[in-house]
Amino acid sequence: MSFDEKFYRTAENEINARRAGNERVLAANEREIKQKFPEIYALNRSLAGTTGKLFRLINEHKSKEEFEAAFAELEAENLRLQTQLRQSLVRMGYAPDYLDLHYSCSLCRDTGVYDGRRCECFMEAVKRAAAADLNRSSPLNLSDFSDFSLMYYDDKQITPMGATAREIMAENLDYCRNYAENFHLPCDGILMRGRTGLGKTHLSLSIAGVVINKGYSVIYGSAPDLFRKAEQEHFGREDGNTVPMLMDSDLLILDDIGAEFESKFYSSLFYNIINNRMNAAKPTIVSTNLEISELITRYGERTVSRLATMDELIFAGTDVRLQRRTGGIKN
Ligand SMILES: Nc1ncnc2c1ncn2[C@@H]1O[C@H](COP(=O)(O)OP(=O)(O)OP(=O)(O)O)[C@@H](O)[C@H]1O
Ligand SMILES: [Mg+2]
Ligand SMILES: [Zn+2]
Repeated sequence: MSFDEKFYRTAENEINARRAGNERVLAANEREIKQKFPEIYALNRSLAGTTGKLFRLINEHKSKEEFEAAFAELEAENLRLQTQLRQSLVRMGYAPDYLDLHYSCSLCRDTGVYDGRRCECFMEAVKRAAAADLNRSSPLNLSDFSDFSLMYYDDKQITPMGATAREIMAENLDYCRNYAENFHLPCDGILMRGRTGLGKTHLSLSIAGVVINKGYSVIYGSAPDLFRKAEQEHFGREDGNTVPMLMDSDLLILDDIGAEFESKFYSSLFYNIINNRMNAAKPTIVSTNLEISELITRYGERTVSRLATMDELIFAGTDVRLQRRTGGIKN
């Protein structure tokens, strides 16, 4: 998939910042050791000196035998100093690699290039930048697990599902928290169903926040918005690669399925997204006000049989949006 040039620049900046950050950590560690343990610092300097010696040796044009002997000697010196340095650090209570430069990506050593190609970590950063751009109009930072209250849900009346609304919603909250905290690939998708104002968007945005912080690419959007954008691009009225991104993001949150305008184009788009993501073992969170029978009428058996393999969360209670507007919390 090709991405807009600006996302490559964002990724480059991100990787440069990462490398600079790791270099800052190393410089700070070196300053600390220099100040507290000058003898360990001196060891570290001698170790760095062996690299200089190696360069000189390479440029000295010795005979093969002389070169090999000198090289072996240098190697032994380097090893001896390294062992000594590590032992001294450990003796003073530091990690043995306290004076090593650490890499966020061990493949490309934070250069963004591995094996002559853009490293995986670089492409992940590009994808995250593109996803962030697609999410820019979403209220991603507005909802959090911590401000999801169970007090809005009835604690007395048993619902047709055989428990109180509060019990059902406590389970849903737990489920979503665990899902977000243990997010990994591949994992299952979620189908959130329930009437308006019961917290589906709130919980899915909360999941998005946690999963984005783990470094995954997450696209969050309402079906009406994302589908409209995809349609505009499909008919050449807008630039972008929304559809490939919807297929490719680590996690896709497709909110409010069924609220979009009814069309053949949208229902086949929905099928393709779900089918492609399932084949690639990538999770999708779908939320909707529709009943299963309504989903079948609208999107067909093939789509719904795929949705049915996801974990289903039924939302219960009375419209929280309304309760908040009228200022009443029921107990
Ligand atoms: N348990 C809760 N605690 C605190 N705020 C909540 C809770 N549930 C919902 N809200 C808030 O109520 C409003 C409506 O919730 P939300 O948008 O998540 O409902 P929804 O199930 O997605 O509804 P719809 O089907 O209409 O999209 C939001 O502002 C949300 O933050
Ligand atoms: Mg919603
Ligand atoms: Zn890398």
